[in-house]
Amino acid sequence: ASGHSGRGRLAEPQQILDAIKTLLGKNGDLAGRRLVVSAGGTREPIDPVRFISNYSSGKMGYALAEAARDRGAKVTLVSASSLPAPHGVNVIEVESVSEMKDAVLSAVTDADALVMAAAVSDFRPASASEQKIKKQPGEEAMTLELVKTDDILASVPEGIVKVGFAAETHDLIENAAKKLQEKRLDLICANDVTAPDAGFAVDTNRVTILDRDGGREDLPLLPKYEVATRILDRLVPILNLRRPR
Ligand code: CTP
Repeated sequence: ASGHSGRGRLAEPQQILDAIKTLLGKNGDLAGRRLVVSAGGTREPIDPVRFISNYSSGKMGYALAEAARDRGAKVTLVSASSLPAPHGVNVIEVESVSEMKDAVLSAVTDADALVMAAAVSDFRPASASEQKIKKQPGEEAMTLELVKTDDILASVPEGIVKVGFAAETHDLIENAAKKLQEKRLDLICANDVTAPDAGFAVDTNRVTILDRDGGREDLPLLPKYEVATRILDRLVPILNLRRPR
């Protein structure tokens, strides 16, 4: 009541619920497995006050981390999102693609699977200005030189199970299938980001899951936690085949 917190104060209901879910899931079908999940939109600095980013909120990645935790997995969440850290998940905060790449590559060394739900910048400013860029008198346009960033998924060594997301505005399935092949993924979740009730920043999503063998599952519109559950339902058998316990 005084506004102070300390031992003895009742935890928030969500925290209590998360602790119960973590405990109940201890012997779930991901018990003993280590998962790395990435989430959020990376930020590439232009100068000390500006950056290039995208509309990703991180909600899908956080839902995946929580759903995996609730099935017994040890989860490392590499996050470029400002959402609060989920209970029982090891969160590594990053901003740029290069920071995310370093964090993912170090986290996957002892992991069984990687799920890249993050929206990673494909290009970054060639150099970030140390001082705020000022407009010049009479300047009506400016050009920013961009260079390509590394593909994080493609840099992860073979061996672990890899799941990607394909954020698309057109030719959804065709583009997603191409990324599945090119990035040598086990599963890809195709996401039409133009739908108002799916994709960026909302609490629901509608994805189609494609696998390496040409399998396809069209999920209906679902809360992101449920989408995460359905993705993990597909991931678990692949994991059990690849790395029997
Ligand atoms: N990804 C990645 N590293 C990048 C870009 C993307 O690891 N530099 C991952 C994303 O996290 C996602 C998958 O690759 O799981 C596909 O990302 P997406 O942005 O849909 O595709 P791109 O490979 O960036 O291709 P394009 O921008 O041409 O659609």
